[in-house]
Amino acid sequence: MENKRGSFGSKFGVVAAVAGSAVGLGNIWRFPYIAGENGGAVFIIVYLLICLLIAIPVMISEFAIGRHGRKNVMGSMRQVAKGKMWLSLGYLGVFAAVLILSFYSVIAGWTLNFIVESVKGFSGMDVTALTANFNGFVNSNEPIVWTLLFLALTAVIVLCGVEKGIERSSKIMMPMLVLMLLGMSIYSLFLPGFGEAFRFLFKPDFSKMTWDVVLQALGQSFFSMSVGMGTMITYGSYIKDKENLYGVGATVALSDVLIAFLAGVAIFPAVFTFGIAPTSGSELVFLTLPSVFSQIPAGQLLSFVFFVLLFFAAITSAISLLEVPVAYLTEEFNIKRKRAVVMGFVVIGALSVFCTLSLQDGSSLVVGGDSLFDFFDKFTSNIMLPVGGILVSVFVGWFMDKKLRYDQFTNQGQCAVKLYKFLVFLVKFVVPVAISILFISKNLF
Ligand code: TRP
Repeated sequence: MENKRGSFGSKFGVVAAVAGSAVGLGNIWRFPYIAGENGGAVFIIVYLLICLLIAIPVMISEFAIGRHGRKNVMGSMRQVAKGKMWLSLGYLGVFAAVLILSFYSVIAGWTLNFIVESVKGFSGMDVTALTANFNGFVNSNEPIVWTLLFLALTAVIVLCGVEKGIERSSKIMMPMLVLMLLGMSIYSLFLPGFGEAFRFLFKPDFSKMTWDVVLQALGQSFFSMSVGMGTMITYGSYIKDKENLYGVGATVALSDVLIAFLAGVAIFPAVFTFGIAPTSGSELVFLTLPSVFSQIPAGQLLSFVFFVLLFFAAITSAISLLEVPVAYLTEEFNIKRKRAVVMGFVVIGALSVFCTLSLQDGSSLVVGGDSLFDFFDKFTSNIMLPVGGILVSVFVGWFMDKKLRYDQFTNQGQCAVKLYKFLVFLVKFVVPVAISILFISKNLF
């Protein structure tokens, strides 16, 4: 049987969908903090270089595999590669997508809860009250409901298909996300803490320039750009032949970085205005920020806007993750899209419920000393993404048919021709070596 495959309709649609995948929780709460901690401008320069030299080439390689294969991760690998060995990349991709979405939905579910909380308002709550409130929430069964609700919304979009679901929703949500972030950033310019926040984020501190900073930047760029596991192979399979893959990769990388910067500018001035130390990750978003919002003018509106934008960022990434197993099931097993979505929802939903429960105090859902949630997070980011990145670059650099690679990278010699040799050099040598070093040093030391 030949499924009629979907595709992204317009150039803006491609960029919105791919940027939608890339821009997610990773940009809004992780990047600003990591940048500030690791030497501000210095980290940013390293990060930009890594995006340019490593993440973009991997993204284009994934696009090339998908666009030639015109199938899900597994099917595309079968089309472009000889031998069963490369199918491991397909299995890895589907498996990683399921695991990432299982813990990602938990945080995204909290975001939904906080949209509702911010309508009620945080006023009159200090950090102690907010912490108690948050702990109570995490230890109750409420997060299960929000997580499953988030996954259900993701499933509905994916069910509507590539063009009508994924592309259309990204075309609406991504510009709104940018507008909201811009609005918040402008507001932040007028807060007294702006100068200090700006220095925290952007002042170059060369004393912080260590090997570890480079490794952090590499890890962050992979997660943030959604590369290393086949999301971009799947999305690449929906990109039309006339689109310039290099152009799409570069535009997405630029948007990803700019949105991460803007997130820093939007968030930190408020935090510094109250002299609060910028904390990381979920604590920053779900405790520090609400306490700040409860104290500043128009804080309630701001917190509502902030959590809605965080939700948009999360759901456009989540759909790209769910699409990986759904495309796999429909094409490899000839299952209808609706059924595949339901199957994905059931499996990922069950895993995400376990992830939610694993965060409760005294939970026995522990793997190797970490909660199941942290285990999924670390296992995917530290092991699966780097392994996937190495496999993709080694395959495209050394094993992929050369003509095929040239045709995909340059659209049969029509674009990015001058860059071609350089890109191949990066994919062949720089990317696998750099990731191997990251991988070994992260896991052995
Ligand atoms: N890039 C997203 C973020 O920054 C998360 C994400 C979506 C992802 N798809 C992915 C990460 C694939 C790794 C692989 O939040």
